[in-house]
Amino acid sequence: MNINVSNFRQAVSKIRLSNAAFEELLSASAMLGAEAKTGRFDIKHACIDPFYSQSLGEALRNIRNIIEHESHVLILDGFRTDNLASFKSLVWAFGSLLGTPMVQNHLGHKVIEVYDRGGKSIEEGARYHQTRQGACVHNDGVSDPLPIDYLILACGQKALLGGESILIDASAVYAELMAFPEILEELKCDFYFENRGMSEDECLFKAPILSFSNEGIPLIRYFRVYIESAHLKAKMPLTLAQVQALDFLDTVLDQSSVQHRVLLEPGQVLISADNKFLHTRTHFIDMHSPRSEIDDAEPLNALNRYMLRMWLRKQ
Ligand SMILES: [Fe+2]
Repeated sequence: MNINVSNFRQAVSKIRLSNAAFEELLSASAMLGAEAKTGRFDIKHACIDPFYSQSLGEALRNIRNIIEHESHVLILDGFRTDNLASFKSLVWAFGSLLGTPMVQNHLGHKVIEVYDRGGKSIEEGARYHQTRQGACVHNDGVSDPLPIDYLILACGQKALLGGESILIDASAVYAELMAFPEILEELKCDFYFENRGMSEDECLFKAPILSFSNEGIPLIRYFRVYIESAHLKAKMPLTLAQVQALDFLDTVLDQSSVQHRVLLEPGQVLISADNKFLHTRTHFIDMHSPRSEIDDAEPLNALNRYMLRMWLRKQ
């Protein structure tokens, strides 16, 4: 098998929908907005008529092609709205047109709000999106045996300080670890993972950290805290060789040579192939005290760091 590690040094490209495509997206969002007033906004998928939405249809095909076959990551700019309700509706409309939204928690939510609730830490059992912690490099598709095809992170507001997104191409990681074949072999073997937050019933499953697509592109599945927790629950402590492999992996992930850093601005949407990119963020400090609930009527510029996250499968 040929391993494809050729494109990991490219910068993350930024694109913007054409005016015509954005207008078509706003129309699709507005149609949803009227119906979403009575309940959660992430239930009914947006739809477009291919005849009347040719610009948006073409833009969606282009984005899918970039994520699946080209750089596997991009930033889409220009998603500016006045208040939180219209931002949620716009991002949901876009995501549900780009792919099929996946459920992300045991409550059935398909859009997750990423902001600091001011509660417990990841080590105490919180999910990453509820904290302001940085430094845990991971990909999101670790709680389900099947991968996430498109990960969407839409920025409604940035932090007062910090909160950079760090993106790490699995191909770059693989290239660095080629000097350590015994480490690569260990990472290709099964580890335990858990479905943290996805279901009331705890479920463990086994999968390799490193694998390859049919085209030979390195694929990754990694969140160390969750793996360590899953091995404890399985009563199968990590072996010395496994711990060493994770230490080598973490050390590579810490190298600036494999990292792209991006500070998402309000209105920017990061889209990536979740099983080809690890990510994390730097620690951040918000403008205001943390809150557990935010009113939909709030203007975006009054919020702390606020992101919407979607997980999509190819349609
Ligand atoms: Fe994440």
